[in-house]
Amino acid sequence: MSWRAAVLTLFPEMFPGPLGLSLAGRALERGDWSLQTHNLRDHGLGRHRAVDDTPFGGGAGLVMRPDVVDAALSQALPPGDRRAVIYLTPRGRRLTQADAGRYAEGEGVVLLCGRYEGIDERVLDARGIEQVSIGDYVLSGGEPAALVLLDSVVRLLPGVMGSERSGLEESFADGLLEYPHYTKPADWQGRAAPEMLLSGNHAAIAAWRRAAAEADTRARRPDLWEQYASRTRFSALPITAAHRN
Ligand code: ADE
Repeated sequence: MSWRAAVLTLFPEMFPGPLGLSLAGRALERGDWSLQTHNLRDHGLGRHRAVDDTPFGGGAGLVMRPDVVDAALSQALPPGDRRAVIYLTPRGRRLTQADAGRYAEGEGVVLLCGRYEGIDERVLDARGIEQVSIGDYVLSGGEPAALVLLDSVVRLLPGVMGSERSGLEESFADGLLEYPHYTKPADWQGRAAPEMLLSGNHAAIAAWRRAAAEADTRARRPDLWEQYASRTRFSALPITAAHRN
């Protein structure tokens, strides 16, 4: 059975959206993965199919009701379904490349998208739902975050990404940002591509790329560098622009 994604949302029209195109879209057509949407509104209450209510304790916005979300999850998750259930929220733990790899190795994911101020915490606790954020900024709903998570996972599924090597070398694969890329023309508007890359010396090119990845990670992502350096004891290396020439 192929990898299966389900999305619970008030806006099923947002899916597959960009995931219907390019790499993910072709994989979807081939059946390498599947995507099912469930409209939370179908489980709304009363004549207006209400899914939300005012927050206990006061405050701005509306909160999605636990009974409505629970009913939608019961419908979306048949008994014995072993997929991870993930609620996209800025309150969640930050999504990493390692998470994407772990989700890709499982049977699929069930993604819960909130709107308004969020979802009543009790249904998240009761069902042991993972809470995941895609970054420290607030979106108007979980849907774009669900698309981001799915994109990061689907490209890792067997057969989806053309070159296996590019997956091993890309950013975060070993705790570093990826090295910078260059192509023709060798001289563009007076800017020369790094000479080393034209040398044909594969060992020297690999060493150049490693140094570039380390320098860029150190300059741009001190948080990643700190973790990497404490693993590899490179913390005394000076920042250098030498690799650029
Ligand atoms: N919903 C709103 N903002 C979000 C974020 N940063 N990550 C995941 N889900 C969200």
